[in-house]
Amino acid sequence: MENIWLFGYGSLIWNPDIPYIDSSAARLDGFVRRFWQGSHDHRGTPKKPGRVVTLVPSEQGHCNGIAYLISKKNANKVFQQLDHREKNGYEKLSINLSLLNDISKTGISYIAKETNQAFLGSASIQSIAAQIISCSGPSGENKDYLFELANSLREYNFIDEHVFELESLVKKLDRTS
Ligand code: BEZ
Repeated sequence: MENIWLFGYGSLIWNPDIPYIDSSAARLDGFVRRFWQGSHDHRGTPKKPGRVVTLVPSEQGHCNGIAYLISKKNANKVFQQLDHREKNGYEKLSINLSLLNDISKTGISYIAKETNQAFLGSASIQSIAAQIISCSGPSGENKDYLFELANSLREYNFIDEHVFELESLVKKLDRTS
């Protein structure tokens, strides 16, 4: 394996926990980020799954995230680690991404497709928010995953209305509960 770019759009943004030799803000065209994947093992339980993000194909859409350059020496170990960490329905996806200044690179990301068993899919923003506020799992509260994501997107000046709308609904529900 050669050095390889890994595109993170969820927890990899604020908690990469992997060795990398370079990183850059990046954009993936043709996909949007959505809280459509069920989480039985991190932010929920099998009985009460939470919701985490996946990539959803969208012709006109794009998803901002962070790309990490993984050395060829570490690539096998890193992808084995991520395959294990994200074993609940995610699979690797070969992508073309744009780094800052529109430099194009090939790379890998993880996607949970609608065919995986844990996929929950679309729902109203209110019902996604209600699910997020009521779930937690071994990695912590589902709402904290959402808040960490929204905060890190803001740090990079990324705009994602789906995430920010959910954040504001969940914060409102939190205040009134
Ligand atoms: C990420 O943070 O990009 C990520 C999301 C789901 C699975 C693996 C990685």
